[in-house]
Amino acid sequence: MCGIVGYTGKNQALPFLLNGLATLEYRGYDSAGVALVSGAGSIEQIKCLGRVAALKKLCEEITVDATCGIAHTRWATHGEPSNFNAHPHSDCSGQLSVVHNGIIENYQELKQELEKAGHSFKSSTDTEVIAHLLEENLQHEAHGDMLVALQLAISRLTGSWALGVVEAREPHTLYVARSGSPLVLATTEDGAYAASDITAFAGITNHVVNMEDGQIARLSYSKDSGATCKIFESDGTSVSNPDTFDIDWDASAATMGGYPDFMAKEIAEQPEAVRRLLKNRLTPDGIRLDELDISTDEIAAIDRIYIVACGTSYHVGLYARTIIESWARIPVIVAQASEFNYEEVLVTQHTLCIIITQSGETADTLASARKMHAAGAKVLAITNVVGSSAAREADAVVYVQAGPEVSVASTKAYTAQMVAAVLLALFLAEKTGNMRLKEVCTKFQELERVPQLIEEVLTRGWQDEAATPAFIEANSSLFLGRGFGATTAAEGALKLKEISYLHAESYPAGEMKHGPIALIDQGFPVVVVCPDDHVRYKTISNIEEVKARGAVVIALATDGDQKVAQISDYLLLVPAAPEYFSPIVGVVHLQMLARFVALARGCDIDKPRNLAKSVTVE
Ligand code: F6R
Repeated sequence: MCGIVGYTGKNQALPFLLNGLATLEYRGYDSAGVALVSGAGSIEQIKCLGRVAALKKLCEEITVDATCGIAHTRWATHGEPSNFNAHPHSDCSGQLSVVHNGIIENYQELKQELEKAGHSFKSSTDTEVIAHLLEENLQHEAHGDMLVALQLAISRLTGSWALGVVEAREPHTLYVARSGSPLVLATTEDGAYAASDITAFAGITNHVVNMEDGQIARLSYSKDSGATCKIFESDGTSVSNPDTFDIDWDASAATMGGYPDFMAKEIAEQPEAVRRLLKNRLTPDGIRLDELDISTDEIAAIDRIYIVACGTSYHVGLYARTIIESWARIPVIVAQASEFNYEEVLVTQHTLCIIITQSGETADTLASARKMHAAGAKVLAITNVVGSSAAREADAVVYVQAGPEVSVASTKAYTAQMVAAVLLALFLAEKTGNMRLKEVCTKFQELERVPQLIEEVLTRGWQDEAATPAFIEANSSLFLGRGFGATTAAEGALKLKEISYLHAESYPAGEMKHGPIALIDQGFPVVVVCPDDHVRYKTISNIEEVKARGAVVIALATDGDQKVAQISDYLLLVPAAPEYFSPIVGVVHLQMLARFVALARGCDIDKPRNLAKSVTVE
């Protein structure tokens, strides 16, 4: 939520800042702004309500000679989206500017204190207190030293932050700080860079420095010394060995590459993503998951597994529970992180916690990982983002290697995370002695066919497009399914509502009679996930029930299913697949369906209103 970037170097700062913001726009897009430190020793702030494109337009109208600056794209937490609340924020003097990703929980107390001391506020954000705190510190205890002023300010804050600060007196320096919100740095011959996410560095560098919580950094540039980046702990001691890593994504991975939107591109990339993840995973000894670094004895001792995640990743958890319990015979509890963090948990030294998070930065999921660590559990992360906070918090990481997912609605990360869950389930099943190697190999071979099956579904997007009229006039919709189908229905409903703004409720098909069936009247759209599985006949009865009440049925069914074809209004057909892998294949139809409905309703596919891809606040 919210993206920040900063630059100081030999080039003009604005191009990187605007491009960087554009790549981070998935983090929030209700307003955007930039602060440029001109060589003449003043700060120019340009900000506006709306998207980065609007900011870009505004910037074309001004000329500022500045090689240092910070910028921000916002997802509002405190204060409505407006020009006033857009970042950067400044102090009373206008001599410094601050951008912030996170939440300052004690901002009300600090604001009152600062107002008493004579500071006047222009916005209703929590962030503005930081600018005034810095001003106060610079004038008093820090004696004009920004590093000290920042240390002192941070010691007063509670909450989470990734901060960027520039000051008019220092036209070639920017300061950054991190606690609880992601922040990465890089230096090249051209300058020093800071950003909320590595995607902002695409095409600039592959070598990245990961800041740790509590750290502050000073990024400077001079002709003599070039770009420098000095990192300090919160007490001011210098960090000599910062955490660094290399990215192996190429710059083109984060571009649209001829597709009309990122969601279309990411849906199409799913077969490749799955193939990449499966490469070299099967050895004569079984599934290769070197990442786990966990002994067979430790696996045998696992007493229960908690899977914790949010949103789409939570749906992966539901899928993972079924296959882990059925193949590895280990009890699994699946929880939504935001609820889990306030519940009691039953943890022993033999409990394994699996967090699933595409971004690796979801605040609630990270809090769950910390909670489980503190309780003594081992934590495994399934994530897409190398070097993310989840990867660093966990004892072991399985990277799903789906490549950058830019569209806010998760698609390729969902299927890749499911495949990672399959690998893990097979691994645990074999190591616990609950599945013979031969069966593991058979299942893996079936899994290797999944990319091909997804490719086949991708050619059938016309079926989804053909079903869109069922939703155009509707005010609501229902998604039903049983077993794995219930999980697919849940994911389909989430996709539809988040990008088309059409209400969609998912329900286990058999449970529908206990309430939601009252919703149905003439023309009400009901998507029923009814592949050729062991509960197909039961689900068919549910189709009959909703049909009898006037519903328009959009059925996700297996090729050749005459019965479902007869009783449905629209068919989304999938090729036959083993029951346990059918959710990975079937969901692709529901992703395409959501996208076509959203297009027909004139919605912004990649940036749905009110959402942000990386939910870095609780
Ligand atoms: C829906 C979607 C969200 C995310 C959720 C968790 O399409 O993308 O529901 O799944 O915000 O995000 P991660 O997986 O990054 O923790």
